Amino acid sequence: MVEWLFIPAAYLIGSISSAIIICRMMGLPDPREQGSGNPGATNVMRIGGKKAAAITLLGDSLKGLIPVYAANVLGLPLELVAATGLAAFIGHLYPVFFGFKGGKGVATSVGVLLGFFWALGLAFMATWYLIYKLGKISSLSALVASTLSPVFAWFIVGNEAIVAASAVMTVFLLWRHKSNIQRLLAGQEA
Ligand code: G3P
Repeated sequence: MVEWLFIPAAYLIGSISSAIIICRMMGLPDPREQGSGNPGATNVMRIGGKKAAAITLLGDSLKGLIPVYAANVLGLPLELVAATGLAAFIGHLYPVFFGFKGGKGVATSVGVLLGFFWALGLAFMATWYLIYKLGKISSLSALVASTLSPVFAWFIVGNEAIVAASAVMTVFLLWRHKSNIQRLLAGQEA
């Protein structure tokens, strides 16, 4: 019964916004008020450069990876592992500590997918990297990688709960990228 506590715990961990905390610690402007306004690694890169962005990326990925990895290592049922990952991801998007206004979920979904199964996270990152090399647009890379992730989950993991959790993350991630999609369609996304 106590294993169900992984879900609220993962949500709370996901609610810790690396972007906001790192920017505060490094004396940078609040990412919610600069650039795209998104508290995520891409926007931290615009505001504070590579080092701040890399730490943000790491922090946001770890908060997805750690709870899912722990759930996996402890041998929790895959349905619960999937729900744990989803909870961490939702925490990032709707953080209880930051007025429920969080990021778009790219780094956290990478961590969650790595926690589900390392090759799944790797497939996401490889896709992101390939699309980025071709177009040099972070949001487009994330949109393509995330859209493909349920397909990767189906072929790599083959478990319905993991595929479903990946698909739900994709739907939320696409929704959070509405403005990016509009700019991409208008040829104005940088
Ligand atoms: O990681 C989020 C990225 O896909 C888009 O971020 O700041 O360009 O809206 P941003």
